[in-house]
Amino acid sequence: MCGMAQTPAPDGAPEKPPVRRRATKRAAPAPEPAYVDRGDAWAVVGAGPHGLSALKALLQNGIAADGYERESDVGGNWNFGAENSRVYESTHTISSKPFTQFPDFPMPDSYPDYPSHRQVKEYFGRYADHFGLRKRISFGHDVVRALPVEDGRAWDVTVRDRVSAQETTYRYAGLVVGNGHNWSPKIPQYPGQDTFSGEILHSADYKGADVLRGRRVLVVGAGNTGCDVAVEGAQNAVHTWHSTRRGYYYNPKYMTGRPSDQVADSLLALRLPLGLRRTQRAVDRIQIVSILHRLRVPAIRFETPGTSFREGDVGRSGKCDVVVVIETNQFAELQMTSERRSLGRHSFH
Ligand SMILES: Cc1cc2nc3c(=O)[nH]c(=O)nc-3n(C[C@H](O)[C@H](O)[C@H](O)COP(=O)(O)OP(=O)(O)OC[C@H]3O[C@@H](n4cnc5c(N)ncnc54)[C@H](O)[C@@H]3O)c2cc1C
Ligand SMILES: NC(=O)c1ccc[n+]([C@@H]2O[C@H](COP(=O)([O-])OP(=O)(O)OC[C@H]3O[C@@H](n4cnc5c(N)ncnc54)[C@H](OP(=O)(O)O)[C@@H]3O)[C@@H](O)[C@H]2O)c1
Repeated sequence: MCGMAQTPAPDGAPEKPPVRRRATKRAAPAPEPAYVDRGDAWAVVGAGPHGLSALKALLQNGIAADGYERESDVGGNWNFGAENSRVYESTHTISSKPFTQFPDFPMPDSYPDYPSHRQVKEYFGRYADHFGLRKRISFGHDVVRALPVEDGRAWDVTVRDRVSAQETTYRYAGLVVGNGHNWSPKIPQYPGQDTFSGEILHSADYKGADVLRGRRVLVVGAGNTGCDVAVEGAQNAVHTWHSTRRGYYYNPKYMTGRPSDQVADSLLALRLPLGLRRTQRAVDRIQIVSILHRLRVPAIRFETPGTSFREGDVGRSGKCDVVVVIETNQFAELQMTSERRSLGRHSFH
């Protein structure tokens, strides 16, 4: 309350009316900032290999940084069993050790040329420990929003605690997003898919070969995942078909006893002409066919130009564009029809 205390006049004079003063307006309290200011610090989203290496680089260069990871541990995609991990039980790296490890933190000598997903996860854990990264990361925290502010000179990063669901916004001088991308499956639609009575599984949900046992399996796509699943199908399913919509080069993991990416790198360093370097692939093909035959993997039918790996030379033409349409019947049998394209003498239906 604002006002003047009334005091009686000492000489009995009539009391003066109290002087009315204009009430002084108290300034409204400044609104609480809607963010916690982290000054010059940067935020790093994700504690997979990219998030970890970014965090380490910032800290090593004297830049304060906070990491946020929605899972309870580091490793990202390699954190097998985590909600967004996409490795499966049999996953080993496709890149050999020297092409996978961080240059300033080599993988242990005890690791094989192509480490398993468990070894890779363990390696990232050691990396985080070695560079003191864990204490800078808030685990179990989702970054739900990141907005550029101050004309792009800062970022308001909103983070949600997965346990309490509490959201807090921090203002950072910079932001590194290492949130990965393999966690987001791309699911194609095929005519007849809605009424197909078999199980349709995206490889994002493929965790191991159990799901293939006793079944007839069509694997669509020949990225590394498609090839891995096709091989596991050949070993575990009743029958496996592998469908690709174009030709591919299939490289074995070893060539002349060395990891083939290292051989390719050596050839590249020699600056040999492309045509000569491609001869490596010819050797690869001979090797892989013989490997498949040794492993007795007849169940895989490579539905690319040529219908088998042996005569297929799947990578040679690159002209094949096979569109596989999955149709259904009530016995949940897979029927495959293919658009007939320029398959030369190997056309099929
Ligand atoms: C089966 C498989 C095998 C592979 N093999 C190889 C290989 O041999 N060699 C190779 O080099 N690459 C390989 N890759 C590629 C693989 O993506 C990389 O190895 C690597 O994991 C990518 O690292 P990243 O840090 O970018 O993303 P990720 O490893 O995916 O990590 C992203 C992290 O960000 C977190 N995150 C995402 N969004 C948020 C958010 N909003 N808030 C908080 N946290 C978030 C995730 O939880 C995750 O921990 C393979 C991929 C797959 C699927
Ligand atoms: N370490 C390992 O052994 C390993 C194992 C698995 C995965 N990975 C890595 O994980 C990442 C993702 O690999 P990925 O194999 O899952 O994905 P990918 O490399 O993107 O391959 C996807 C495959 O699906 C095909 N495809 C896409 N849309 C299609 C459609 N609508 N109809 C038919 N075919 C379609 C693609 O054909 P087109 O080529 O014609 O587009 C391609 O063959 C890569 O970085 C890979 O190296 C590594």
